Amino acid sequence: MSAPRGEFSSRFGFLMAASGSAVGLGNIWGFPTNAASNGGAAFLFTYLILAFALAYPALMAELIIGRHAKANAVTALRGLSTSPASRALGTTVGFAGMITVSFILSFYAIVSGWMMAYMLAAGADIVGADAFSSWLQTPGLTRDSLFTVVFMMLTIAVVVAGVKHGIEKWASRLMPSLVVILVALIAYVMTLDGAMDGLRLYLVPDFSRVADTGLLLSAMGQAFFSLSLGVGTMLIYGSYISKRENLPALGGMVTLLDIAIAVTAGLLILPAMMVALNNGIQIYDDQGGLVAGPGLIIAVLPALFEQMGSAGMLVGLAFFVLMTIASLTSSISMLEVPLSYMVETRSVSRRKAGVVLGAGIAVISLIIVFNFNVLFDLVVSLTTEYSQPLLGFFFAIFAGWIWNRNGILAEIKQGCEGAEHGMFWRIWPFYIRFICPLAILAVYVQMLFA
Ligand code: TRP
Repeated sequence: MSAPRGEFSSRFGFLMAASGSAVGLGNIWGFPTNAASNGGAAFLFTYLILAFALAYPALMAELIIGRHAKANAVTALRGLSTSPASRALGTTVGFAGMITVSFILSFYAIVSGWMMAYMLAAGADIVGADAFSSWLQTPGLTRDSLFTVVFMMLTIAVVVAGVKHGIEKWASRLMPSLVVILVALIAYVMTLDGAMDGLRLYLVPDFSRVADTGLLLSAMGQAFFSLSLGVGTMLIYGSYISKRENLPALGGMVTLLDIAIAVTAGLLILPAMMVALNNGIQIYDDQGGLVAGPGLIIAVLPALFEQMGSAGMLVGLAFFVLMTIASLTSSISMLEVPLSYMVETRSVSRRKAGVVLGAGIAVISLIIVFNFNVLFDLVVSLTTEYSQPLLGFFFAIFAGWIWNRNGILAEIKQGCEGAEHGMFWRIWPFYIRFICPLAILAVYVQMLFA
């Protein structure tokens, strides 16, 4: 039916690929700004609980289903089904996941394109190409379309090279570099005036916000997005893990890495914002809220770097290299979802599937670029706030209700001897059956009636 399946060559390779998927704009941009506008440490605290109690079990469901089936999401979910109704549900959820992740990639590529443009702009500043640099930093249809397409081409190039020689190889190179750049940037920003105010904003909780339903919603959305859940990304990465590996431990490490990098990124972004404020750059809007979303990273931070003179050029370059790396290791995991389906069920080559799908998604990106004000927020909100958690709900139903317990246990026991006596098996089945679906539903109900 298809070419032999890829497999990650080592535990390290899988960890880099999966944490590369998880760590992205959501960690370095989304998490810190969400924390800043939702009561600092109060958000951090809620997020940590949700990440371990809700996102980790959901991640495990995808990894276990994926490795068991050794197939794309549609085939995997259909394979678990026990009745015509659950087969139909499996097909629907698998397809909905592919569509959702394709739309997520279509907006992600636009933002990643900005990151690349700013990265080049910092390079242009360093060599004194001022006109080019200011073009790169001016929003425009030409610039945005160009960089969106370039970013998609990079994504396609890595993915078509294969699981081992594309995804694993690049993630293993890029993720360690990301950590080094992040830590170096934090060390530098901490020396600047105002940085301590940022730390205070981040780490001193405003507990009056904990009970806020908006905070809960944002924290859950953030956790699902950050761990790349609900759309089959982690399922397909799970399907490339060897049967010798201990799944609960691997999933735990991916969760920890993802959280650690989000929390660490907060140590960079919030202090940097306060340094900017200290230097007279506007970081609050007219309503007293933080400059929202895109404005923050591409308005506040570049203004800050510019004030820092020649050091600022290097810092700016390092920062946008960091963002580009984080984006690319995530975007490749998105494209892999529909690509694996096409390769495994339609017998097309990786190359052809990658180019066709990548080009199709790039066209959607361009439509969004040309109708930015109408479409961008709409696509972000439909995919990440509605579709993703809803699909996460159905993944939990498959793992908790449709697949039988013995099958799941047998899968976990491969690579994890004695799993039936362990902590994981004592807690997880209950979580995935009851807590995860109910918690997701509760948040939805709140969202609909809020
Ligand atoms: N988790 C990544 C981030 O934090 C983005 C991401 C990668 C993603 N794959 C995904 C989000 C699949 C949703 C679904 O930026």
